Amino acid sequence: MTAEPAPLLALLRRRIDVEGPLTIATYMADCLGHPIHGYYRMSDPLGARGDFITAPEVSQMFGELIGLWCADLWQRLGAPDPVRLVELGPGRGTLMADALRAARLVPGFRAAIRLHLVETGLVFRRLQAAALAGSGLDPQWHDHWDQVPDDAPTLVIANEFFDALPIRQFQQTEQGWAERCVAADAEGPGLRLILGRATPAIANLIPAGFRDAASGTIVEVAPAALATAAALADRIARRDGGALVIDYGYCRSAPGDTWQALRRHHPVSPLDGPGTADLTAHVDFQALGDIARLQAATVHGPVEQGAFLAALGIRQRAARLRQAGAPDIDAALDRLIAPDQMGSLFKVMALTAPGRPVPAGFSGSL
Ligand SMILES: C[S@@+](CC[C@H](N)C(=O)[O-])C[C@H]1O[C@@H](n2cnc3c(N)ncnc32)[C@H](O)[C@@H]1O
Repeated sequence: MTAEPAPLLALLRRRIDVEGPLTIATYMADCLGHPIHGYYRMSDPLGARGDFITAPEVSQMFGELIGLWCADLWQRLGAPDPVRLVELGPGRGTLMADALRAARLVPGFRAAIRLHLVETGLVFRRLQAAALAGSGLDPQWHDHWDQVPDDAPTLVIANEFFDALPIRQFQQTEQGWAERCVAADAEGPGLRLILGRATPAIANLIPAGFRDAASGTIVEVAPAALATAAALADRIARRDGGALVIDYGYCRSAPGDTWQALRRHHPVSPLDGPGTADLTAHVDFQALGDIARLQAATVHGPVEQGAFLAALGIRQRAARLRQAGAPDIDAALDRLIAPDQMGSLFKVMALTAPGRPVPAGFSGSL
């Protein structure tokens, strides 16, 4: 346990006393989004001294290439004006600041942009405002993607956003599928995982391909991620535009427990100190792609981040920055594209409207 009991722990135990065990999704939503004690609500956990570091914080090259990807797609779509540029979970605003700076290279793109940031964290909103103060664009903030006006072609960027959306976990038992839930630990002050009752209704939530899995098998479902992917796909299929989803995850749906917590760059138990660690799950790209196709969007990829950034020219950009005397470029390049670092674990998937050109970086799919 952490030295001081997390304030959210007492609230959760009281809630469990009244409501009974919580689904992992309910627990995760509270840990990350509780209005006062939620992990993302009041603090900035990013960076070398925080709990974890993300690609845009590793190097400006990441955001610059994504800005050029957006500008290039915008041109291929016929340069629509206005275009809504949306970032989901923009963190410190570093990616968007780098993207907008690089996008200056494409005449007319910046002038067409209406900028929208979907962010629930108050500290992050302030950091984003500061990072984008010199951009010449006037961002609008929203708590939820659905609040972005539905009236124009839309480009969406989501880097390490989907992994933060709450998941549910189910386990096969001798009695059938049961949900893994968070309960109060009767023996101590903390929390523990228990299995709910196995029912046919729970079995019905399991993707058909896994229903007959062996006893003990764990399956994850990410309802909020699926709903968000469906909403993005529907908007893009109707209004035109594109979405770029980058995250750690897997290309083909598979059983397994990927729920994890990080504090100060170290894995901890997801039940330890609720609200004080980053809680995430690996993203099931096949499930996101399948639901996006059901909304009539075209799905590109997923491809590995290393291959994607290489196709966008990250090595050439690194060479230019090295020549200009920028420090630590080789270490940053390695971090972003090497297979044993972020290059293979992170995948990239894009959505477009049907019949639109294949976006840069997606000529080959995994
Ligand atoms: C892991 S950080 C990634 C930040 C940034 N994209 C980057 O790459 O540095 C997750 C971001 O999503 C935001 N976030 C998490 N859950 C959210 C939700 N349900 N709605 C809106 N924003 C959310 C967090 O506040 C944070 O900005």
